[in-house]
Amino acid sequence: MKAMQVNSPASDPTLFPVEVPQPIPGDGEVLIRVYAAGVTPTELLWYPTSHTRTGEPRVGAIPGHEFSGAISAFGKDVQAFHVEQPVFGMNDWFSEGATAEFCLTRPENITAKPASLTHESAATVPIGALTAWQGLFERAKLQPGERVLVQGGAGAVGLFVVQLAHLHGAYVIATASQHSIEFLQQLGADEVFDYQGAPFEDKLEKVDVVFDCVGGETLERSWGVLKPSGRLVTIAAQSEGREDQRVKDAFFIVEPNSKQLAMIAEWIEEKKLETFVGAIVPLKLASDAYRGAIKSNGGHGKIVVSVIPVSGTTN
Ligand SMILES: NC(=O)c1ccc[n+]([C@@H]2O[C@H](COP(=O)([O-])OP(=O)(O)OC[C@H]3O[C@@H](n4cnc5c(N)ncnc54)[C@H](OP(=O)(O)O)[C@@H]3O)[C@@H](O)[C@H]2O)c1
Repeated sequence: MKAMQVNSPASDPTLFPVEVPQPIPGDGEVLIRVYAAGVTPTELLWYPTSHTRTGEPRVGAIPGHEFSGAISAFGKDVQAFHVEQPVFGMNDWFSEGATAEFCLTRPENITAKPASLTHESAATVPIGALTAWQGLFERAKLQPGERVLVQGGAGAVGLFVVQLAHLHGAYVIATASQHSIEFLQQLGADEVFDYQGAPFEDKLEKVDVVFDCVGGETLERSWGVLKPSGRLVTIAAQSEGREDQRVKDAFFIVEPNSKQLAMIAEWIEEKKLETFVGAIVPLKLASDAYRGAIKSNGGHGKIVVSVIPVSGTTN
């Protein structure tokens, strides 16, 4: 099968095209025919891209752990789906990803694709929406009526954080650049601050939950706006591996979860949640997408690698 692999040193990883054997599903595994895969550029620098689960150096990883596609085959003991069924979801960070014609996953990592979404739109959802869900509800335990500050609200994750927090009945405050203010208001944000304007901490206090998608200095300045009982979560790539115990405790990496994704799919079908595609690139241009050379159309939503475009041919 065709795939894109990471080849260079961890400090400057790039992707190159390869032909590799099509994976064979083992017991409890599902083979996915990938139609589209989401791009999270910083993933190339994440630990599982450069290391195996046991800590050995990892070479030639296939990135992209969220996808939309169809069931192609099963290993033993998988009964939940049928061949050709359209599904979307994630696979394990340490396994080969979906920037390829096929990838392996497990039934507990996928669910039926929302019928109203194209594969390209569906591929923008799993990581963004599950990160938002797990950060807001599992880690921060956001309650209706609480005040939540979303740092980086207009990003691929932030736009789901804003929508889910609003749906949950929270008072949503977000930071974004000037051109995204109206966009976030339409998604349910009650207040939006331009992060290039006056410092947010001059205007904000008594926040129950900070959901940080930015990291660094923005994260450092966020602690001060929390109530004494406030909670902070950070997902920013630069928060990973920090020594500060508060940051260590606040950082998490999203995990696949089919039950949560099924609820997200239901809300998409009910038009409670909106999805956004920044740009679509063919498989052979995945490297450009990862190195930031592809510009997002309207400035919002994830870039997607289209492995089987609408015409049905591979590229
Ligand atoms: N831990 C996990 O499980 C996990 C999962 C997914 C992503 N991530 C990480 O989370 C981070 C965000 O991911 P993403 O996919 O949402 O990125 P993204 O789509 O690139 O969005 C980043 C957003 O942050 C905004 N921004 C930049 N500087 C800002 C500032 N100082 N204050 C407020 N907003 C600011 C940008 O706005 P402008 O473009 O207008 O400047 C942009 O909308 C990345 O570091 C990514 O690696 C982690």
